[in-house]
Amino acid sequence: MPTYHIEGGHLLNGEVTISGAKNAAVAIIPATLLVKGPCRIENVPDISDVHILLNILEQMGATILRLPNDTVEIDCSAVEYTQPSATLAQQIRASYYLIGAQLGRFGRAHVALPGGCNFAPRPIDQHIKGFLALGAKVEETESYVNAEAGPSGLRGGRVNLDVVSVGATINIIIAAALAPGQTIIENAAREPHIVDLANFLNTMGAKISGAGTDVVKIRGVSALRGGFYSIIPDQIEAGTYMAAVAAVGGNVLVKNVIPKHMDCITAKLREMGAAVTESDDAIRVEKIRRLRRATIKTMPYPGFPTDMQGQVGVCMALAEGVSRITESIYETRFFAYCDELRAMGASIQVNGKTAYITGQPKLHGATVRAHDLRAGAALVIAGLAAEGNTVVQDIHFIERGYENLIGKLTALGAKIYRQED
Ligand code: EPU
Repeated sequence: MPTYHIEGGHLLNGEVTISGAKNAAVAIIPATLLVKGPCRIENVPDISDVHILLNILEQMGATILRLPNDTVEIDCSAVEYTQPSATLAQQIRASYYLIGAQLGRFGRAHVALPGGCNFAPRPIDQHIKGFLALGAKVEETESYVNAEAGPSGLRGGRVNLDVVSVGATINIIIAAALAPGQTIIENAAREPHIVDLANFLNTMGAKISGAGTDVVKIRGVSALRGGFYSIIPDQIEAGTYMAAVAAVGGNVLVKNVIPKHMDCITAKLREMGAAVTESDDAIRVEKIRRLRRATIKTMPYPGFPTDMQGQVGVCMALAEGVSRITESIYETRFFAYCDELRAMGASIQVNGKTAYITGQPKLHGATVRAHDLRAGAALVIAGLAAEGNTVVQDIHFIERGYENLIGKLTALGAKIYRQED
């Protein structure tokens, strides 16, 4: 199995350009199933989750052109109803968006249950609540979801989510885009990638308003046409490079970001003593002193993202004093990386939803295992900051979501390479 080998202790300097947002791309690609005509999409990150989704659509009969510069053209006009490959669908979490997309396009869906990062139980009852509100009958077993609209297809409905769920909000928007009447999602998630999905669908002719607030309204249209769209930059990839500079040291301009999306991360790194300056579409991070302790509580957007707790956790592992992370989205997420960081010399105590991290002057290299995408990114940062050599195993998790991680880090002066076996 391939591994990353890191020689720690080299400062990060220069510029890095952020790719398109994974969690927007993995929603927008399934949503192209609703569109009659080619969708030319720019800023599609070159990562394995995207490759798998494109392969699934291709096997279902879509025409896909992979163009230079992270551009993809997807035409699902000729797709007939068929079950997406279970083998592929089970490899990624976002295959659950194919349920909403198939229901919206064909009035029925049969999709193998999602895989991806299983750092916690990840139920989809809220997605199903939404499909039921649109008039579908849904059967969920251990291995698949089967959903069917009545003979006249889906119709608009009202759903109040019991938990703020990114996935459910997106899935219901996708399913409702072509459903006659009005759909209202209350207690919707507000993440930037939800706004991006709505903007994509609206560009293709949908009528969605309120995305980015907690009430999203969808007025079903009779058809969506092809068009051009560019995906927003990845908030978490940008945050990962920002945290890397704060942990490792150096001075890096993180380009192609939307600074507003980064507010929470920017504020936290400043609080910890990093110098962070924003311009229109870039953020400069410089480490000017040893970091100070901080407290984080993960929350849905615009709160501190759960997907950044591990990376900032590494900053805390090297900061002065005792820091605290409270995880309120996925309680068991600490287990994905805390043991591995301890093996590198970090001092972390986990008590239920809270981790107490006592900063150490340094970490040391070790052989560690990525248990999921973001935990893996945290270990890479720890390896870059540590004294000595680190080997990160199970990097396929990391490659699900970071485009050209090795190339981008190497250009910043990191000593990291990928070994094939
Ligand atoms: N939840 C339910 N029922 C549901 C759906 C969610 O109880 O039907 C709960 C979850 O168990 C969790 C909370 O609601 O406690 C929020 O889950 P959400 O649905 O928002 O998460 P998700 O849509 O499955 C997305 C991202 C994750 C990210 C979370 C939280 C995608 C493909 N995945 O997951 O990203 O951690 O939102 O922001 O968009 C990653 O990129 O590494 C990643 C894991």
